[in-house]
Amino acid sequence: MSQAFDAVEVIRAKRDGHRLSGAQIDWVIDAYTRGAVADEQMSALAMAILLNGMELEEISRWTQAMIRSGTRMDFSALSRPTVDKHSTGGVGDKITLPLAPLVAACGVAVPQLAGRGLGHTGGTLDKLESIPGWRAALSNEELFAQLEDVGAVICAAGEELAPADKKLYALRDVTGTVEAIPLIASSIMSKKIAEGTGALVLDVKVGSGAFMKDVESARQLARTMVDLGTAVGLKTVALLTDMASPLGRTAGNALEVRESIEVLSGGGPADVVDLTVALAREMLAAAGRDGQDPAERLRDGSAMDVWRRMIRSQGGDPDARLSTARDTHDVVAESSGVLASLDAYAVGVAAWRLGAGRARKEDPVQVAAGVEIHVKPGEKVHRGQPLLTLHTDEASRFSRALAALDGAVEVAADGSELTLSPLVIERVS
Ligand code: URA
Repeated sequence: MSQAFDAVEVIRAKRDGHRLSGAQIDWVIDAYTRGAVADEQMSALAMAILLNGMELEEISRWTQAMIRSGTRMDFSALSRPTVDKHSTGGVGDKITLPLAPLVAACGVAVPQLAGRGLGHTGGTLDKLESIPGWRAALSNEELFAQLEDVGAVICAAGEELAPADKKLYALRDVTGTVEAIPLIASSIMSKKIAEGTGALVLDVKVGSGAFMKDVESARQLARTMVDLGTAVGLKTVALLTDMASPLGRTAGNALEVRESIEVLSGGGPADVVDLTVALAREMLAAAGRDGQDPAERLRDGSAMDVWRRMIRSQGGDPDARLSTARDTHDVVAESSGVLASLDAYAVGVAAWRLGAGRARKEDPVQVAAGVEIHVKPGEKVHRGQPLLTLHTDEASRFSRALAALDGAVEVAADGSELTLSPLVIERVS
């Protein structure tokens, strides 16, 4: 048993801007997981960390302590290398859906232990659950067998994977302490290191729809996570990618699955295709298999074949009709010109209010609710043309969704002055 400390002393130390010792960190994470440090004490400490930060050495020790709170997985017995991707979360971010089968089609296994959505960002498991019969919970035996056989798994992370993070994340969510770089970095990296992936590519989102609103803080988060991975011998690379406007043309569970299937069929919106291929290239390179062209695997249907096997292997019917919402409402352009911006956060909140997301983790989600985007930034707009279609099963939700979208759309009379942010902003390795 590690040395015991007084929780109030640990809180005071961070409150006053001091560095926590390794022994203090080990103790506080272990004691919090066991219930010996109370929620109110951990929330005070999380707020002190948010305000005063932590040095890399402290974050690394914090990450290790969270890993030790549960069990670690090991995929080294598989016949192919493994690589995973983690996105810090955005609006319309369905990239995992086409990406996992695409990378598997290139010969590298992808163990995606994913989560559910909370707040304005969607969750990968919620999206896949819009496919009739699909099952998120797999035993470890099923997970290994599917990875060996199909090469790609997207499933729920088990209770035993970094349980300290599960408890702490739920607390941060209700205490205004999510947006702390040391806490985000250790939360993500503890799960990814415990998961046992052979290499990791991070998609760090920047912009209104992301946790990190500016490039400088996104760069700092990316650097911290890459350093944490590298320090434990995990090949880790990060891309900083744009989240000022939503990714693709849909935000919402079944809507995003439909769009992902378009991408796997060789079509789909250019930004979703481009980011999927860019991340696939990084994942293959990180796994030491960069001789493959992932764009070709989308075109020749082999990524789609893996998708179908992956869905079927988890009880889903890849040919089933996806639900459509009972009611729709169009948002039309008030003037003609070029769409200058479409605010990602506003679209995320609108999709959430339409029923696509949840306010508390036990809330249900509407499968078919969400926002369809007809015009992307940089494209021409005509007055009266539908810009967005809102989808929901409860028409009473339209007014609050419309309120979220107030001021979210900007149309410029002339697009010649417009500078749009590139999709991939920077690479950190
Ligand atoms: N995603 C996580 O898993 N943890 C965080 O803290 C933020 C985003």
